Amino acid sequence: ADDRRERLYTLSARAGKFFQETMWETEEGKSIGLSYFKERGFRDDIIRKFELGYSPDDWDALSGKVIAEGFKEDVLEATGLAIRNDKGKLYDRFRGRVMFPIHNFTGRLIGFGGRTLKTEKSVPKYVNSPESDIYHKSNVLYGLFFARKAIRDEDNCFLVEGYADVLSVHQAGVENVVASSGTSLTTEQIRLIGRFTRNITILYDGDAAGIKASLRGLDMILEEGLNVKVVLFADGHDPDSYVKQYGGPALKTYIERNLQDFILFKTTMLLKYAGNDPIKRAGVIRDIVESIAKIPDGIKASVFVRECSSLMQIEERVLISELNKIRLAKS
Ligand code: UTP
Ligand code: MN
Ligand code: MN
Ligand code: MN
Ligand code: MN
Repeated sequence: ADDRRERLYTLSARAGKFFQETMWETEEGKSIGLSYFKERGFRDDIIRKFELGYSPDDWDALSGKVIAEGFKEDVLEATGLAIRNDKGKLYDRFRGRVMFPIHNFTGRLIGFGGRTLKTEKSVPKYVNSPESDIYHKSNVLYGLFFARKAIRDEDNCFLVEGYADVLSVHQAGVENVVASSGTSLTTEQIRLIGRFTRNITILYDGDAAGIKASLRGLDMILEEGLNVKVVLFADGHDPDSYVKQYGGPALKTYIERNLQDFILFKTTMLLKYAGNDPIKRAGVIRDIVESIAKIPDGIKASVFVRECSSLMQIEERVLISELNKIRLAKS
């Protein structure tokens, strides 16, 4: 079984090389792939470091090449790099896309995300490798291999939504950044971050989906006993587009000035929808107490009770009795 996994690693690494060579050394790769990354403002050193590449717009460029080198069809299929059609013939999953290799935290290449260059809505923006014997999406974080030293040094991990966000934030000099790309955040991913730091800062997209995912993510992070803060971007922006519009130094300032602890973020978000309706405001308070109840550390929880009390203008003892009710119901 280990031999089999070894073959998948070897093929994935080979494919990564192929996509890189295609991008740097072929006319198609240079004029389409490399120029795409350059137009998006990615520097050469970042393109090299993250081993970005380009897959030729061809049905079997990769498959044909690696089969000729002696790789077996079933290994190609098992990595998801090729797909078998109804006639039993293999074709490449990634065609005419810019390629983001995904590494596990020890640096082995285990999968890919491929972005289309087309703008038609009918074409999926990203195609990702499927689950395989070496790629288990729920416990992989994009960029972790390149971020882990900085995460330890800074004692904080920035969590973004996408591949491009990781690259841009990293390029801006903030190297402690990872993405839960291709899936929504999982408990395993939070535990993986927890091996390097107890502090996570969410930098999701500033749209409704990003806010929703931040609210979900912060509760999950609290449940794992980690500390969580949130930086909200203006609607329509993500960390990548922010860096592209305002530059790397501005990103650092923006983060410093807009860092919110989870109570402040959640309160602000929920109160926006509740307005002055007292019933809705009561719902917001209950919702926030639910989040505080997830914090395993009682002393930390009491600090947040105090903050909630002053933000919501409600007595601490009322919050504490609600908190105890929730705790009792859960035990
Ligand atoms: P976004 O839609 O925010 O894309 O999805 P993005 O990362 O900002 O992409 P750019 O800037 O247009 O290149 C966030 C992440 O969700 C996953 C990808 O990991 C993406 O980076 N995703 C998104 C998919 O897996 N498939 C999709 O079709 C779209
Ligand atoms: Mn061909
Ligand atoms: Mn988005
Ligand atoms: Mn985005
Ligand atoms: Mn983006």
